Amino acid sequence: MKVAMIGGTGDMGYGLALRLLRAGHEIFLGSRRLERAKDAEAEAKYLVPEGKIIGMDNAAAVAAGELAVIAVPASGHRETLLELREGLREKAVLDITIPLAFKPLRYAPPAEGSNALETAAILGEGCRVAAGLHTVSAALLRDLERPLDVDALLVGNDAGTKEQVIELLAGTGIRGYDAGSLMFSPVVESLTPMLIGMNKRYGSNHIGIRLTGF
Ligand SMILES: NC(=O)c1ccc[n+]([C@@H]2O[C@H](COP(=O)([O-])OP(=O)(O)OC[C@H]3O[C@@H](n4cnc5c(N)ncnc54)[C@H](OP(=O)(O)O)[C@@H]3O)[C@@H](O)[C@H]2O)c1
Repeated sequence: MKVAMIGGTGDMGYGLALRLLRAGHEIFLGSRRLERAKDAEAEAKYLVPEGKIIGMDNAAAVAAGELAVIAVPASGHRETLLELREGLREKAVLDITIPLAFKPLRYAPPAEGSNALETAAILGEGCRVAAGLHTVSAALLRDLERPLDVDALLVGNDAGTKEQVIELLAGTGIRGYDAGSLMFSPVVESLTPMLIGMNKRYGSNHIGIRLTGF
């Protein structure tokens, strides 16, 4: 699949890009600065020599991908969506962002109720938005020596997009599950501050979730 990674130079976007490259997907790695995207492209080609990746500015990456992953910090979420709105309306979108606030660490959603709901509100009628990977650690993604064996709850406003994401992740070791509509996005987004606290208590940096009972 052709994947646009918006915020692809960051911990999460870059780590996910490496895992998707290894699974045979094509990555258009986006940045606000072309030079940073090209640096990340060069490093990714060294780490995954067989991978197909091109560093671009964020808007060009959106245009090139079939599916766009939003991987920017919460502080830039709204602004990024507004800037890329026209291109993103045409695409399947996977929003992996979490509205975190610090000191104290907490879930601090925007007025729409969650980052994913904000995305859907900005992109408007007919948009295809899924949200997920909130419980998958960037540190784990970037450690290519470590096999992935985690589950991911996916919510969204379009069943086809959720299926597309499940298929995308399948080759990486992340098992995606359809957890329902965007109504549940505050639930899945707000698991992260809890996991960050658990990581501290248990001395880890990659505690995730596994589902049972299927
Ligand atoms: N870290 C984790 O384990 C984890 C797990 C699950 C989900 N998440 C979520 O994934 C998202 C990305 O996390 P991260 O740790 O990768 O973030 P990050 O490294 O801080 O930022 C990702 C990239 O976004 C771009 N960026 C920074 N500020 C921006 C702004 N104001 N507007 C637009 N773009 C901006 C930067 O790229 P350029 O400067 O190159 O444009 C940066 O490299 C966050 O919402 C986070 O909550 C993180």
